[in-house]
Amino acid sequence: MQLNLIKDGYDHLTLEEVLAEAAYLNKRSLMATAQLNKIEQAITEIKQVLRASNKSGYIVRPARLSDIDSLESMVAYWAQQGENLPRSRADLIRNILSFAVCVKENVVAGCACLYVYDSGLAEIRSLGVSPQIQRQGQGRALVEFLLDKAHKMEIKKVFVLTRSPIFFEHVGFEKTTIQALPEKILKDCDNCRKKDRCDEVAYEYNFNY
Ligand SMILES: CC(C)(COP(=O)(O)OP(=O)(O)OC[C@H]1O[C@@H](n2cnc3c(N)ncnc32)[C@H](O)[C@@H]1OP(=O)(O)O)[C@@H](O)C(=O)NCCC(=O)NCCS
Repeated sequence: MQLNLIKDGYDHLTLEEVLAEAAYLNKRSLMATAQLNKIEQAITEIKQVLRASNKSGYIVRPARLSDIDSLESMVAYWAQQGENLPRSRADLIRNILSFAVCVKENVVAGCACLYVYDSGLAEIRSLGVSPQIQRQGQGRALVEFLLDKAHKMEIKKVFVLTRSPIFFEHVGFEKTTIQALPEKILKDCDNCRKKDRCDEVAYEYNFNY
């Protein structure tokens, strides 16, 4: 969720960041408490409008450590189905900042993470949505959340290796080849037991900066 305020350092602040900045200015006596209260009230009203508009009750947001139990279950479920790589709890905790989750009443019903390579490209990994809510737009919401995050970081290309090509075509990715993604080959493919019979297809999303 972004608010475009004015075209300067306040551009692209999240609601939480707006509130934190206002509280900081108020604490330093640079903003009157009445103005801080107005901002808090406006944010409360914005959230009420969002809640009333969101009929499904699912939202996508950055993962937190309190999500870890249900995040771990979701990742383990799709790993058991052979759709994603398994990840240990310790790995999930270390990489919590890279994860987005789709939640309802604080239970994770979907997840995905954005892994940034040292070349500056990024990969969508560990994407999975609960079997109970498939085809209801939450996979798209997770991918769009991570694309927005990548865009803010000025990442030029996001790629994915998948057995769900149609989904990625629907969310705006274009087909590429694994050979065009040397980061992936070096990181995972060289050590993969399916190296010579890979059944995944490479897709990429390019930002035009
Ligand atoms: C792939 C996955 C994340 C998609 O999530 P989802 O919530 O079911 O997908 P969405 O409802 O957001 O679908 C977005 C679009 O893709 C389309 N789509 C999704 N899955 C599709 C499928 N299997 N076949 C055809 N179209 C599909 C939807 O119709 C929708 O189209 P539209 O928005 O243009 O009308 C989900 O199926 C999943 O968890 N799969 C198992 C794990 C997995 O394969 N992860 C990917 C590893 S890279």
